[in-house]
Amino acid sequence: MNDTTNSSNVTDTREKVIDIKDVKKSFGDNHVLNGFKMQLYKGENLVIMGKSGSGKSVLIKCLVGLETADSGSINIMGYEVTQLNRTLLDKLRAEIGFLFQGSALYDSMTVKENLEFPLRRHEKRFEKGMDSNAIILEALENVGLAHTLNMMPSELSGGMKRRIALARTLIIRPKIILYDEPTSGLDPITSKEIIELMLRIQKKYETSSLIITHDVDCARVIADRMILLVDGINYAEGTYNELVKAIDPKIKAFFK
Ligand SMILES: Nc1ncnc2c1ncn2[C@@H]1O[C@H](COP(=O)(O)OP(=O)(O)OP(=O)(O)O)[C@@H](O)[C@H]1O
Ligand SMILES: [Mg+2]
Repeated sequence: MNDTTNSSNVTDTREKVIDIKDVKKSFGDNHVLNGFKMQLYKGENLVIMGKSGSGKSVLIKCLVGLETADSGSINIMGYEVTQLNRTLLDKLRAEIGFLFQGSALYDSMTVKENLEFPLRRHEKRFEKGMDSNAIILEALENVGLAHTLNMMPSELSGGMKRRIALARTLIIRPKIILYDEPTSGLDPITSKEIIELMLRIQKKYETSSLIITHDVDCARVIADRMILLVDGINYAEGTYNELVKAIDPKIKAFFK
């Protein structure tokens, strides 16, 4: 089953920043992705939901070349990821922000050093003589944590770490942001704060976002459109309001 609505017909004229066709990825006998397809349109918040172990992280890793798809096509802003050499892959990665599952800050570095890291890595994208201190401060102000500049990750709460990780993702001014479980492990109030922050950032920098989650509340608030990943395929697509009304048991299971 697919396309619970005809929304894909309506949106097809919009610019696609990600276009995935028939992606397959197995680990031995474990066929994780089995012909998955999706489009991310410019400026939208697309949520992909799937239960634990359904292949959400594998999908996002295939997108940024951390895993290699066995077959299929992954086109990001005109680049065919499955065929890129190292240099072009790095160039593409400089346009994509990736918020890893968990916060993945470097524990032995201060907040400032954590934020310097992507700046140095993608130095070429910035003008010579950039004021990295000003960029870092602006990134921290974006997430309301300017005062943590010289703190160590161990001194921060889970929610603060997540916000710092988001600041680090934003520092390279990505055109696309990939979020892997941005609210997992956070209490409902902190989750809400993170979601509001994501929406604010989306508006300010006009990014296109792919948000992987199993948090229904997160999806309801943030999704312009949703895809349900079941059995390795895009099992259903639609808005939250469309999908929540579905009678298919596999779709209903998500909204219990
Ligand atoms: N490098 C790997 N080698 C072997 N199997 C892997 C590897 N990475 C992922 N898998 C398997 O692929 C499947 C999907 O894993 P994935 O991490 O994408 O799940 P997920 O949907 O992100 O789950 P969660 O919601 O718990 O994060 C799992 O069965 C997992 O064991
Ligand atoms: Mg995962």
